[in-house]
Amino acid sequence: MIKFWKEHSTMASVDEMVLDNRGRELTEQELPEILSLLPSLAGKRVLDLGAGIGSIMNIHNQICWLLEKVPRSKVIQGGFSTFQQFLDNRQYTRQGNLHYEKIFGAGYISTGGFSTTKEFVDLLNLKPGQKVLDVGCGMGGGAFYMAKTFGVEVLGLDLSENMVEIAMERAIDEKLPMVHFELADATKRSFEEGSFDVIYSRDTILHIDDKLALFKRFHSWLRPGGQLLISDYCCGEKPWTPSFQEYVQQRGYILYTVKQYGEVIEEAGFCSVRAEDRTARLIQATQTELDRADAIKGELIKEFSEEDYLAIVNRWSDKLQRCDTGDQRWGLFYATKH
Ligand SMILES: C[S@@+](CC[C@H](N)C(=O)[O-])C[C@H]1O[C@@H](n2cnc3c(N)ncnc32)[C@H](O)[C@@H]1O
Repeated sequence: MIKFWKEHSTMASVDEMVLDNRGRELTEQELPEILSLLPSLAGKRVLDLGAGIGSIMNIHNQICWLLEKVPRSKVIQGGFSTFQQFLDNRQYTRQGNLHYEKIFGAGYISTGGFSTTKEFVDLLNLKPGQKVLDVGCGMGGGAFYMAKTFGVEVLGLDLSENMVEIAMERAIDEKLPMVHFELADATKRSFEEGSFDVIYSRDTILHIDDKLALFKRFHSWLRPGGQLLISDYCCGEKPWTPSFQEYVQQRGYILYTVKQYGEVIEEAGFCSVRAEDRTARLIQATQTELDRADAIKGELIKEFSEEDYLAIVNRWSDKLQRCDTGDQRWGLFYATKH
């Protein structure tokens, strides 16, 4: 589809694009790509709304929505009626994301930012043209890095509108046609079997309750020989300290020990599962991030406020404290599909 537009949109006037848009040829090229996003339509009745509007508007990106009607969850998330609202209004407000990336590093909102991204992505031995799914891609730092450095195609999926909005804003400057973002819930989205070479997810699955069901989906979406790489918050064995219990409940996290996490990946059908406790790396990265916050204290206070700066320092210090009591752990998981 991108190839078609490149060939047929240069120097074209609006009249040409509207009146001579080679609709048949375009349809032949883009319809299969768009329909591949849907489960099989065989035997279904389909209503096609507003076809053709994109060709007369001056838009940077074509956007394709996949909507699925699902029953509304009866569980109210922290007072919000959808989990998406909970994410966007609690943990991942636009302003909060912009604060946190100052500490994690531009484009990242997870432990170690670019440094752990480089370290972990290196384990994948990515090859140009491979297809990567980044589950919970956030603002897209990892997706841009993988595409730029290894020439892979990346689909970044995230449920937070704030995150995807920032990622798409940055995509305009990055100019990487191999990177796409999609606002979607990883627990609901469906892909054809064998759609990806790699599924990559950083510090995201802590938000997801039914990890076994999710890992089974990942297993199906990977091609045989495909690789899974996940980093995630984990926990120590219970009993937890009261402050850790309160923290987990307030955030709505669902945490497993590193060992349990690895076992669930295995139960989902993966082989060669490696489940490594990387808490020491979390502590090191957190300390580096605290030092960074200290080094840019003036800038943070000027750009945000003294209160925001202190909130960051307290959050990062609390994280170190939680690691110290043994309640908070950090896991790195690697597995393949037969
Ligand atoms: C800590 S952030 C990490 C973002 C990114 N991976 C990074 O390293 O910068 C966790 C992300 O998971 C996303 N997320 C949580 N639940 C999700 C779901 N069910 N489907 C897709 N994304 C989800 C959040 O919106 C958030 O962007």
